Amino acid sequence: MEERMISPEQLAEEHFLEKSLRPQYLAQYIGQEKVKSQLKIYIEAAKQRQEALDHCLLYGPPGLGKTTMAMVIANEMQVNIKTTSGPTIEKPGDLVAVLNELAPGDVLFIDEIHRLPRVAEELLYSAMEDFYIDIMVGQGTTAHPVHFPLPPFTLIGATTRAGMLSAPLRDRFGIISHMEYYQTEELKEIVIRSADIFQADITTEGALEIARRSRGTPRIANRLLKRVRDFAQVQAEGKIDQPIADQALTLLQVDQAGLDYIDQKLLRTLIEVYHGGPVGLNTLAVNIGEEPETVEDMYEPYLIQCGLMKRTARGRMATHFAYEHFGYPKIKKEL
Ligand SMILES: Nc1ncnc2c1ncn2[C@@H]1O[C@H](COP(=O)(O)OP(=O)(O)O)[C@@H](O)[C@H]1O
Ligand SMILES: [Mg+2]
Repeated sequence: MEERMISPEQLAEEHFLEKSLRPQYLAQYIGQEKVKSQLKIYIEAAKQRQEALDHCLLYGPPGLGKTTMAMVIANEMQVNIKTTSGPTIEKPGDLVAVLNELAPGDVLFIDEIHRLPRVAEELLYSAMEDFYIDIMVGQGTTAHPVHFPLPPFTLIGATTRAGMLSAPLRDRFGIISHMEYYQTEELKEIVIRSADIFQADITTEGALEIARRSRGTPRIANRLLKRVRDFAQVQAEGKIDQPIADQALTLLQVDQAGLDYIDQKLLRTLIEVYHGGPVGLNTLAVNIGEEPETVEDMYEPYLIQCGLMKRTARGRMATHFAYEHFGYPKIKKEL
């Protein structure tokens, strides 16, 4: 679900590149200044006390650097990181196996933590709070609880939706950080850094054009950079400047505002089929052939942030600005 505009063949290359593109330390991590400055203090304090860092919840739309940040935190703390995800843990035993591998101070990263099964989540409560779990051993009449102590560790949870976390779980995170969409200038820096890693020849204006059209998202910026680089290689002897970036992005159906094909389809459907709404999320999702969850996590937050769409009690609505963006005549009803 986190993969946009990508064919399965490109996935392997993608994963390899993602690895090399990931910043390793806070100093290399571009943007998210508020999150970084807070974490910097908490990390330093924990290191001085020689304690594990407090549990940390990172939430925000896909591709903004949550996984990257978890790895950066582990590097800064100079500890190991064990990675798992909510959907991978099917039964409590899966979680026990992961917890069992932790050394003192280690980071346990649980991606998509909102999809953790309830029974596993409940095990986490005591693990997070007092570093132990009580597990049932044996069957039938011989079944008995076993108290299982754990080393102090840091749980880092990542989620696209903090609202879907239960209160008891959310309350056990000492640090809750909201990742925001990136500024164009920050994305420009990321594009230049990535181009450097790819050894791609890019002008500042070329990087700025890609940055402007990346939906505020580093993952998309890196992906578009790769496609633009392909285009430049074939059309312009490898040199990425603004006109080449613009041509390539237009070919990729990324519009001037940086909306991709699905964004455009979503807004056009809202305007053309539903006269601007309000329309329910499920109906809208069916119309564009996406899962409601995908629409809600991946597409809407950016469109709402751009002021192109509104979430109301009666459903989703296109704003005046959306009508303007696509050149439709203005709507009469007030939003
Ligand atoms: N602040 C950043 N600076 C440079 N690159 C970044 C930054 N944040 C994310 N990236 C890049 O964007 C991609 C997606 O980041 P990731 O951490 O996987 O996002 P998330 O886990 O939030 O979906 C990674 O390849 C990473 O290299
Ligand atoms: Mg991730």
